[in-house]
Amino acid sequence: MTRGPKGFCIWLTGLPSAGKTTIGKELVPRLEARGWFSDLLDGDEIRLGLSADLGFDRKSRETHAARVAFLSKLLARNGSIPIVALISPYRSSRAQARATIGRFVEVYVNTPLDVCEVRDVKGLYKKARAGTIKEMTGVDDPYETPEHPEIVVETQQMSPSQSAEFIIGELDRQGWFNGGPALGSH
Ligand SMILES: Nc1ncnc2c1ncn2[C@@H]1O[C@H](COP(=O)(O)OP(=O)(O)O)[C@@H](O)[C@H]1O
Ligand SMILES: [Mg+2]
Repeated sequence: MTRGPKGFCIWLTGLPSAGKTTIGKELVPRLEARGWFSDLLDGDEIRLGLSADLGFDRKSRETHAARVAFLSKLLARNGSIPIVALISPYRSSRAQARATIGRFVEVYVNTPLDVCEVRDVKGLYKKARAGTIKEMTGVDDPYETPEHPEIVVETQQMSPSQSAEFIIGELDRQGWFNGGPALGSH
């Protein structure tokens, strides 16, 4: 059987409350409208199942990212576009995901910490500042900013749909819907 077009992985990384889940949900229908299969692999959701055994220490976060990368590899090689919404705070984990998946678009959801703290979608910054929870990324756990992401999206001056449109525009411009960028361009 011949295979369809090659998929690729959209890996959204950023601080808690940066906008990864929101943008991921906005991306799915836009990709489907272009005729692609797409799945949102949300870090929080995967922690309820496949990664239910893991905590938030470095090793657990690395294992979590590696599992999500493995799933994404399978989906992308079957012509789908997995969208990963995962804090994935460590550069090494993201580099490993890139190596595992190959066709990998790192999207840095760049929202400053103070803005994330105001959003505080799940109330976790508040708890972390109060000392009720530990290992909170951005508070007492590190977030290593991407050095060479394919796409950087700023969410402060944009609505979620504008951020999703911006990403689609960049994917288009970089040739991802058309077999991927020329080798050596990254
Ligand atoms: N441009 C934007 N992109 C994404 N989210 C935004 C944007 N502007 C405001 N927001 C808001 O920020 C919050 C992001 O929450 P969420 O997507 O759950 O973050 P994360 O998954 O990164 O923890 C939501 O309440 C969303 O409505
Ligand atoms: Mg989320």
